[in-house]
Amino acid sequence: MLNVAVIGSGTMGNGIAHVFAQYGFPVTLIDINQAALDKAVLTITKNLDRQVAKGSLTEDDKTATLGRLRPSTSLEEGVREAGLVVEAATENVSIKLDLFRQLDELTPADCILASNTSSISITKIAAATKRPDKVIGMHFMNPVPVMKLVEVIRGYATSDAVTQQIMELSRQLQKVPTEVNDYPGFVANRILMPMINEAVYSLFEGVAGVEEIDTVMKLGMAHPMGPLQLADFIGLDVCLAILRVLHEGLGNPKYAPCPLLVNMVMAGRLGVKSGEGFYTYT
Ligand code: CAA
Repeated sequence: MLNVAVIGSGTMGNGIAHVFAQYGFPVTLIDINQAALDKAVLTITKNLDRQVAKGSLTEDDKTATLGRLRPSTSLEEGVREAGLVVEAATENVSIKLDLFRQLDELTPADCILASNTSSISITKIAAATKRPDKVIGMHFMNPVPVMKLVEVIRGYATSDAVTQQIMELSRQLQKVPTEVNDYPGFVANRILMPMINEAVYSLFEGVAGVEEIDTVMKLGMAHPMGPLQLADFIGLDVCLAILRVLHEGLGNPKYAPCPLLVNMVMAGRLGVKSGEGFYTYT
């Protein structure tokens, strides 16, 4: 079985490690922070318990899944024998470029380097390595154990063989992979973020209140969450960062982030993770 290393133990990293381990892959979950790793293992255990309670997983599957998961604080040791690395570190260009430069040195020459980035260019990340043909986007959706999509992003130089391998691997995780090309926001966020931004503008301009906007989209368009609740769930800082990538990368004023969103992020109202966004969380 392919050895998988997941870098970053935040919400996306722990979800990605969870699904690879659940479907039989030995996974090393890497984070520089031991406390963050401990928290990630607790979260994975809790989410597996939830699957056991729903009857979609047995206790034995849960034990086996946890047995395939190895937390590590050492990048060097954690990726040494990896066949696939999925990077889910902070959405910061210089951190990612630096990380991929190191991964290029530390991993076996045939190892595929994937990034879960929501909007940073795969072509740019790939250019930091000497193996751009083996660098690809593997964009999972939150919550990873539940959402079916993997947006598979081909950088300018990603090979057909690597793309096919990642498509097949995603199917082995019971996901539905969808191939897209590397342009700002890819497809998921190119379409999702302008909708969220428009919802914030509707609030900003007094068209309707928070609950009214979300109710229209939930009950009128059958979305599981309204756009403002979804923005809180994703993180308002993440939404703002992605909108800036769209605005800058596509050069069209229609992507300019709503001033209310900018203000909320500056005020530290980031949504669920800060306890307050468009809604309050206790
Ligand atoms: N791990 C395992 N199972 C989980 C879970 C987790 N983290 N979170 C939820 N579940 C399971 C629940 O156990 C439940 O299972 P059953 O269907 O078997 O009963 C199911 O998921 C639904 O959960 P709940 O009943 O608790 O709650 P819900 O019905 O309100 O659904 C939700 C919650 C799945 C999050 C739903 O509200 C939803 O789909 N929201 C939209 C999510 C979305 O759009 N995600 C994409 C965000 S964008 C992104 O991620 C990418 C980016 O780049 C910004």
